[in-house]
Amino acid sequence: MNVPLTPSLRGRDLLSLSDLTADEFHALIDTSLELKRRWRAGDRPRLLEHNTIAMIFEKQSLRTRSTFDIAMYQLGGHSVLLSQNYIGWGVRETIRDVAHNLERWVDGIMARTYGHATLVELAEHADVPVINGLSDLLHPCQLLADYLTMRETFGALEGLTVAYVGDGNNVSNSHINAAMHAGTTLRIACPDGFDPDQGVLEAARARGADVSIVRDPREAVQGADVLYTDVWISMGHEEEAERRRNAFAGYTVTPSWFADLSSRGVFMHDLPAHYGEECTEDAVYHERSVVFDQAENRLHAQKGVLVQLLADRSDA
Ligand code: CP
Ligand code: NVA
Repeated sequence: MNVPLTPSLRGRDLLSLSDLTADEFHALIDTSLELKRRWRAGDRPRLLEHNTIAMIFEKQSLRTRSTFDIAMYQLGGHSVLLSQNYIGWGVRETIRDVAHNLERWVDGIMARTYGHATLVELAEHADVPVINGLSDLLHPCQLLADYLTMRETFGALEGLTVAYVGDGNNVSNSHINAAMHAGTTLRIACPDGFDPDQGVLEAARARGADVSIVRDPREAVQGADVLYTDVWISMGHEEEAERRRNAFAGYTVTPSWFADLSSRGVFMHDLPAHYGEECTEDAVYHERSVVFDQAENRLHAQKGVLVQLLADRSDA
């Protein structure tokens, strides 16, 4: 089994794409593509045989939960699902205590949390890699799958323009970090008051990211290669639903917008979708949509991350 692995990624946490170098970001995508190619060719490398990860969820999930679980199984390993109901962390016992238990049993921890600080605290105490499965601030694993999908769709990432239309949320913040590494041009269209995280934006610009913020979504979309949107009401923002629906008036993506994209332009969404809000159902099911390729690629991107962070290099 000869999958090229990056020495600097072994044993690392993945809390933010900004913790990576551009080379490490591309290496994660390359490894994911290689594992996908081999899986499709009938190759079944058991690169994580006898490895176990714990999966902690404070919030709901379909894709992240399923794909980490399936990825571990297909790589010869195992996962243990721990919902907040099971472990009551921070309530039944401290996050520090949870970390010092889990690190004695498992090889890595994937966690989906509300506060990003919870993930940072977990990673500080656990001496096994901690992977961000979404926090209120960031969703790095989603953008790895998305950029993998863009590599497959366009052949290369160089020169691409991405229009992100909607809330300046966790997904938009990880878009900024991904654009920084890939050298793509990112235009974010969001209403005033719903900008992406300023700290993430400033840090990425300081590292050369080409990101602009506009208020007119149709302006952002002109000539773009990717039109990307995400929900206006993220998990944890439900009490702001009415205010947000009003603020995002005019931001609902429909297939009529696709005519403004470049001739090769595609529509992307991380899912779940709230139809009638950030987009219509016919946008997701349109022939220019690659939304379900993105969902499929969550599996392959998780494999790339898991193998790069956890695999014993002598097996590779
Ligand atoms: N896109 C995504 O993370 O989906 P889930 O919330 O279902 O995991
Ligand atoms: N921004 C969304 C992403 C869901 C995958 C949320 O945080 O709910």
